[in-house]
Amino acid sequence: MIKIITFSFFTFLLVSCNQLNVESETNPPSLSANSEFPLGTAVRYRPFQKDLQLRQLQQYHFDSYTAGSDMKMNQVMPTEERFDFSIVDSIIAYANEHNQRVFGHNLIWHSSTPEWVRIKATENPDWLLSFMRDYIYQYVGRYKGQVHGWDVINEGLNTKGAGFREDTIWYKIIGPKYIEKAFEFAHEADPDAVLFYNDFNIERDLEKFNTMMTMVEDFQKRGVPISGIGFQMHIRMDIPNEIIAHTLKTAASTGLQIHLSELDIIFNTHDDSRGGGIQRFTDVTEEMLLAQAKKYEDLVRIYKEVVPREQQYGITFWGFNDRDTWIRRFFKMKDWPTIYDENLTPKPAFYGFLKGLKTDQTSAKSNLN
Ligand code: GLA
Repeated sequence: MIKIITFSFFTFLLVSCNQLNVESETNPPSLSANSEFPLGTAVRYRPFQKDLQLRQLQQYHFDSYTAGSDMKMNQVMPTEERFDFSIVDSIIAYANEHNQRVFGHNLIWHSSTPEWVRIKATENPDWLLSFMRDYIYQYVGRYKGQVHGWDVINEGLNTKGAGFREDTIWYKIIGPKYIEKAFEFAHEADPDAVLFYNDFNIERDLEKFNTMMTMVEDFQKRGVPISGIGFQMHIRMDIPNEIIAHTLKTAASTGLQIHLSELDIIFNTHDDSRGGGIQRFTDVTEEMLLAQAKKYEDLVRIYKEVVPREQQYGITFWGFNDRDTWIRRFFKMKDWPTIYDENLTPKPAFYGFLKGLKTDQTSAKSNLN
């Protein structure tokens, strides 16, 4: 109880004193000020613009901006072959104003492919590859030097187990080579952008992880311009640290940038589908919150231990508070996956994450051995 009151008081001070850039005894420390690598959170631009408290917290804790959905194909090209860059332009302006890196999420993803693209591609299969090239050239080209890195392909592998996700128009019409083509086009449009393959469950589903590694190593051998691997990292409390350390370390052995791109940690579980939440815990206890704090701490320590500093592209939360988390809406279940609670006060998870950031690499190593 005392903690809750203290946390609320912190947030009150944070917002009301408008001293967000000044760390003091009354403010919780800024996460990014304590981090050796960039930190970000997914943001929905429109509601964010109306929410001063959220913006202040985002500016205080993060130095990287990822659009939750505003940069996806169905948002920037909702109607046939006509770009609408208005929100992306505003995002770039906001990020410049606050000295933040913009991360582009994402170029090609089956779930955000607009219906008109599906229809047109089915009617005229030859059109799809040239559309993809023009889309990437124009989009990446327009923000050359302003968007630091891109998730070029999001979720190109099967939900579970080995193999590619075949049930998409991209795969069905162009074949598996659509993935490397997307990387080539993006690289041609902005040779300096950091280009990621991004997927979920690769930290724990070893068959899926191995398919990804085979693809990435093949790309590297053939000079396909991939420069990073994004682990979405939507994890559960019971995913063993050892598996996460193993997959991150193996991925880092490619020499590529490693991004924990959509981090959250749930207590319950789900079947990976919309509405597929499996509610095991209906309430959260202090003990669970402390265990979650430890899990966040462990994860940062693992990242720092197994990913060499020059390959640490950063950590991005998929929303940083339990009020706005996608988990509740998407899986239709109650959960508490983030570092801030429903009242926008820092949870034990916040302090666990911070502790992980502050641990130096040498002691992280000895603690994990
Ligand atoms: C995936 C996608 C994200 C987002 C989340 C759910 O992880 O990569 O863009 O849509 O699902 O919100």
